[in-house]
Amino acid sequence: MRSIIVSGPSRLSGSVCVPGAKNSVLPIFAASLLCAGTVTLHNVPRLSDVSAAAEIHAALGCTAVLAGHAAVLCADGMTACDIPHTLSAKMRSSVFYLAPLLIRTGRAALSAPGGCNLGPRPIDIHVDGLCAMGAQVVQEGGGASALVAPDGLHGTDYTLRFPSVGATETLLTAACAARGTTVLRGVAEEPEVVDLARFLRAAGADIAGEGTSRITVRGGRPLFGTEYTVCPDRIVAATVLCAAAGCGGEVIVDGCPAAQLEPLLTLLRRAGCVATTLGPRTAALSSDGVLHGLGLVQTGVYPGFPTDMAPLLGAALLRADGMTVIRDTIFSNRFACAAGFAELGANAAASGESLIVGGACALRAACVSSPDLRGGAALVIAAMMSEGESVVEDAQYIDRGYEDIAALFAPLGAQIETGCGCPCAV
Ligand code: EPZ
Repeated sequence: MRSIIVSGPSRLSGSVCVPGAKNSVLPIFAASLLCAGTVTLHNVPRLSDVSAAAEIHAALGCTAVLAGHAAVLCADGMTACDIPHTLSAKMRSSVFYLAPLLIRTGRAALSAPGGCNLGPRPIDIHVDGLCAMGAQVVQEGGGASALVAPDGLHGTDYTLRFPSVGATETLLTAACAARGTTVLRGVAEEPEVVDLARFLRAAGADIAGEGTSRITVRGGRPLFGTEYTVCPDRIVAATVLCAAAGCGGEVIVDGCPAAQLEPLLTLLRRAGCVATTLGPRTAALSSDGVLHGLGLVQTGVYPGFPTDMAPLLGAALLRADGMTVIRDTIFSNRFACAAGFAELGANAAASGESLIVGGACALRAACVSSPDLRGGAALVIAAMMSEGESVVEDAQYIDRGYEDIAALFAPLGAQIETGCGCPCAV
């Protein structure tokens, strides 16, 4: 088990270049199964979830070579049509292989994907949308089920009951291979959906409307290998901004469209930080670490305040001189990190879908455990705000979305390193 060891408190200063986005590269990896020839990706973050995706490609008989921040993918020689359960259980993004496998082989096993425990994460919209394109659910032996589409998929006019990011990505990918035109209504507008559409277009797809609530795809065009650069990770950018806000300091975050960070920057300004945009892809933040409570903050789908940033903002506001209630409208178990915040001495509690934090407390070192990816990153921020040496255990959750969180913060002045084993138990 890996852990992150932090000696606080830290003041952060310096600049960070934002890496490629996890939530963009993973659906692109899966969609590459539909491309004939070689797909070369740049700005690929070196994450455990990306390694897991490469393992899925290998298990399917496809090639996935990771080198530095590039990936070379080729699915021409695909030999298998099932993802081993141990791999699909490793991450939520295994669900993105449903549509490509269905299209390539006429069948795709339905198994619950893994991923962070943020509450129930059904895949009914993925399945329902694929059925609207002509797929059928069939029962197989031992209680297992699969989607089948022996005659391929056809275009449709489909309205998502909720703008799910993942389901939008599944249906967008499927629509590229379906015969005829597909209109997807009520879709997610997140930047990672836009990035997938751009990748598919670069591979030959005919797509219009990404980034709005309606996407139109004229399907059936062959997709070819292409070269594509993955978009920046706005959640990593937000992690640095929230850390500087909570710890105090001055940071510049470079490479992420400033507009994507504006919902967070607006909140951090209200909390007392000075946050400016120095250019279309550069944001600067300075904070004296003494923040004000924000009252009620609600997450929402894009362009609202993102659910993934909610625990990070919560960490920044732990010592604020007033209370903040952050209500997540997307996931029911977003704030499992509240227990770790409390162990660090914060007035923090999760109540239903809300996180309650604040009240000018002094934070002191503790040994805490990452409950999930963003909750773990939030605990690292809280540890950097705390007096003494803290240990954040279960760093494997953090590795899903951060290349090396210690290497992200050490150049900014944090006393932080990666540890092995379980130092708290010693
Ligand atoms: C994506 O998850 C991201 N993951 C999440 O990132 C992110 O928190 C989330 O979108 C919201 O922005 C990836 O892109 C790999 P959803 P996803 O489908 O696609 C319900 C991170 O830390 N729903 O938009 O799983 C669902 O239960 C993470 O990087 C259904 O009911 O999110 C949830 O309440 C974690 N049926 C809501 O929609 C479905 O078929 C939003 O889920 C699909 C979703």
